[in-house]
Amino acid sequence: MSVPVASSVPVASASPAGAGRSIERPRVLSGVQPTGALHLGNWLGAIRNWVALQSDHDTFFCVVDLHAITVPHQPERLAEDTLSTAALYLACGIDPQKATIFVQSHVSAHSELCWLLNCVTPLNWLERMIQFKEKAVKQGADVSAGLLDYPVLMAADILLYDADRVPVGEDQKQHLELARDIAQQRINARFASRDSAGQPIPILKVPQPLILKEGARVMSLTDGRSKMSKSDPNEGSRITLLDPAELITRKIKRAKTDPQMGLEFGNPERPEADNLLGLYALLAGRSREAAAAECGSMGWGSFKPLLAEATVAALAPLQARYHELRADPQHLGEVLSQGRERASAVAEATLERVRQALGFLASS
Ligand code: AMP
Ligand code: TRP
Repeated sequence: MSVPVASSVPVASASPAGAGRSIERPRVLSGVQPTGALHLGNWLGAIRNWVALQSDHDTFFCVVDLHAITVPHQPERLAEDTLSTAALYLACGIDPQKATIFVQSHVSAHSELCWLLNCVTPLNWLERMIQFKEKAVKQGADVSAGLLDYPVLMAADILLYDADRVPVGEDQKQHLELARDIAQQRINARFASRDSAGQPIPILKVPQPLILKEGARVMSLTDGRSKMSKSDPNEGSRITLLDPAELITRKIKRAKTDPQMGLEFGNPERPEADNLLGLYALLAGRSREAAAAECGSMGWGSFKPLLAEATVAALAPLQARYHELRADPQHLGEVLSQGRERASAVAEATLERVRQALGFLASS
């Protein structure tokens, strides 16, 4: 089966950042790691926003499998997790006719640009990354160089596509800043050539983060002060997008509460109330004001079944689409191979600009 992709989207040429684009739709790039099942935080903090962007932006969404091996991984799971993450993108509403969906390791320019950027990125910029420090503690003595280098690979992902905007959750903001600094201070400022008027011609586009407030930080069900995460050993701390209805209900039933009646936002003493009420608003499609009014005098015993019902109802159509997609592996394969072609064309052009700016001998 042939899959129509966004053929009207032009490919950037080997010219200064952005100059090869004939349509002025802002470019968007984002990605999620195929490490374990995606959860409500990934959906509400990231992927949900991608869906809203795809109609009026030129969108690229990748499954960042090279990032997934920066901590010890299971080789027998990697391909399956990559496919299931791609299927979840589609099930969440990413449309291959509008967006380019691809696997990071299928486009070798990501690794190559990462190397070039590595050689201009100061080590101490990486050593101060919060996510590195947090993850490194968990790895003990076995921290890989790849884990330290993770944000440079992420910068390569973004900069290869001349992305204008990068929709991510709040935890990725520092990595976005780093990508901006590398592009601006370490590549453009050092290697740009000048036009006839003496103005520098930028080599890489400097991206902007795009962090929507609501959903940007979904917290754990078992601790309202730490974020919902794929790596939390307690599965009860997160609801994954593929959890069956009974499991969702059970996890919500066991979620941490406090002794107070009434759900409310913004009370620093009640992080669980804030988090679960926020989830309810997003999943039931209510404004925060409406959710606060509806649940303001409810006890936990009445609120939890309501939240469970809203969660199950919000995930049901997504789960049905996911299972349909997994039943047709050929279709998914086509989506990813056409995505790879489109992504490679854009990425190779950018990589060539950087190679030339750094002074490499042309290969033919
Ligand atoms: P990861 O699971 O670390 O690969 O994250 C993929 C995307 O989901 C990134 O844009 C994250 O910022 C976002 N994300 C991850 N966990 C959460 C969370 N608990 N709340 C909101 N966004 C999240
Ligand atoms: N580091 C991101 C995360 O864990 C995933 C990621 C890798 C990404 N490359 C990216 C996100 C490029 C946005 C753009 O969430």
